Amino acid sequence: MNTLISKIDRKWTILTLTRAWKTPVTTVKIQQSTLPSEPVIPSKKPFRVELVAGKRYSWCTCGHSKTQPFCDGAHRTKAQGLSPLRFVPEEDATVWLCGCKYTSNPPYCDGTHKQEFILNAPLHNE
Ligand code: FES
Repeated sequence: MNTLISKIDRKWTILTLTRAWKTPVTTVKIQQSTLPSEPVIPSKKPFRVELVAGKRYSWCTCGHSKTQPFCDGAHRTKAQGLSPLRFVPEEDATVWLCGCKYTSNPPYCDGTHKQEFILNAPLHNE
């Protein structure tokens, strides 16, 4: 028996199971996840944070957390393809943690928030 993907659209994938001579046996309609895998932008500026050596932090990568820049578990329902970035600083430090979620040096701000695609993007304020 073969499986053919007979149709794909934004929300549905239609799988058709066929015998070797291509007679359809059954068709299965599977709903694709509608949850985004890209982060939303909660802030277009970084957050100044005083980190404590040895303390465990979870930096929000999805942008849905209400406790920015840290995770509050919102990714579990709003961005299931994303997980928080966990880190433990080796020494006390004052740092700038990324608020736009598009840094190339997570969790730290690298200035990406100054680029046009962030400046022109909508702020997430759900
Ligand atoms: S706030 Fe994201 S790179 Fe600066």
